[in-house]
Amino acid sequence: MANTRHTYTYPTRIEYGPNAMKDFTHIVKEQGLKKGLIVTDKGIEKVGTADLLKGFFTEVGIDTVIFSDVKSNPTEKNVLDGTQVFKENNCDFIVALGGGSPMDAGKTMKVMATHDGPLEKYDDMKGGDKYILDNMPPFYAIPTTAGTGSEVGRSSVININNKKVIIFSPFMMPDIAVLDPLITVSLPAKLTAATGVDAFVHSLEAYIMETFHPMADGIAIEAMKMCVENLSTAVYKGDDIEARGKMLMASAMGAIAFQKGLGVNHAIAHGLGIFYDMHHGLANAIVLTEVMKYNISREETRKRYASLGSIFGVENDAEKVIEAIGKWLISLGIVVNLRDLNVKEDQFTALEEYALADPCCPLNPKTVEKGDIVTILKNLI
Ligand SMILES: [Fe+2]
Repeated sequence: MANTRHTYTYPTRIEYGPNAMKDFTHIVKEQGLKKGLIVTDKGIEKVGTADLLKGFFTEVGIDTVIFSDVKSNPTEKNVLDGTQVFKENNCDFIVALGGGSPMDAGKTMKVMATHDGPLEKYDDMKGGDKYILDNMPPFYAIPTTAGTGSEVGRSSVININNKKVIIFSPFMMPDIAVLDPLITVSLPAKLTAATGVDAFVHSLEAYIMETFHPMADGIAIEAMKMCVENLSTAVYKGDDIEARGKMLMASAMGAIAFQKGLGVNHAIAHGLGIFYDMHHGLANAIVLTEVMKYNISREETRKRYASLGSIFGVENDAEKVIEAIGKWLISLGIVVNLRDLNVKEDQFTALEEYALADPCCPLNPKTVEKGDIVTILKNLI
């Protein structure tokens, strides 16, 4: 049952279910840890979830300090400031509480707690992973949204001098991911929809990737099914614990699947995020059906899309699946016209340039040529 507690160990220890966050503080106590740094953002602090967690720790006799200065695109300064708070307070573990940003920032603070700067030294694109040693404090992740799946990921994205830098190491995987649906019920409908579609797109883009990885493909298919079956309930009946729980699990599964990689959908979404500060999940949702129509000319991708028919209750036909996804997005209340979001046509070329340089773009199964992204965007206006 999705509304009861479970413990899994794949790909890391996962404590799942209602009250998992409270139970988790007992686990930390058993591990003999004494003082924790809670990494979060102002929004989570405002709704009281950070204080709730702090209170649970107090009940088991563990002192914590809250660091809530993480920006929506976490910066090097956020990481260094948090690391300083960790050191000044003699903390011995870190808990990230929030969406992808606090989780990415917390993961990187764990690195900087025991490694010398500058942070740029650990840039994965420059082979920085080899400098990250297995000598870091315990790190735990508690997602408050169901979308990024960063709680089961081994990398973070940090803004260093206005450039998004990936920090990666197998040692950055959270020691425990805590999936507690009770703390996601307050997420507003619009954000629930956008983050949930992000989780769906992670699985879809991973699934169409032609790398041989049947394990990830199996997880991706089940995660997409769970999104389609539960996201609408999570959006329109936010206190449904079973639907919230299944979306949290589908989000984690999506992130496990996308170890295969992501494609042009995410490349464009990253561009829309940088140019218009558009919500990442919303950006992914808006371009989704047009990207699918673009990808469909590749026979192998067409077959993969077609195989998803049963998830949407339609024939195994790629066009019918795309049509069903379009209807699903509308049913979730997602705006599908870029003009409604003030996206300007005269910026399409610059947006394309950005997306073509995004690391996700070359992984798309269909090779993306100059002009293709402009065409996709024009179809959305
Ligand atoms: Fe995403």
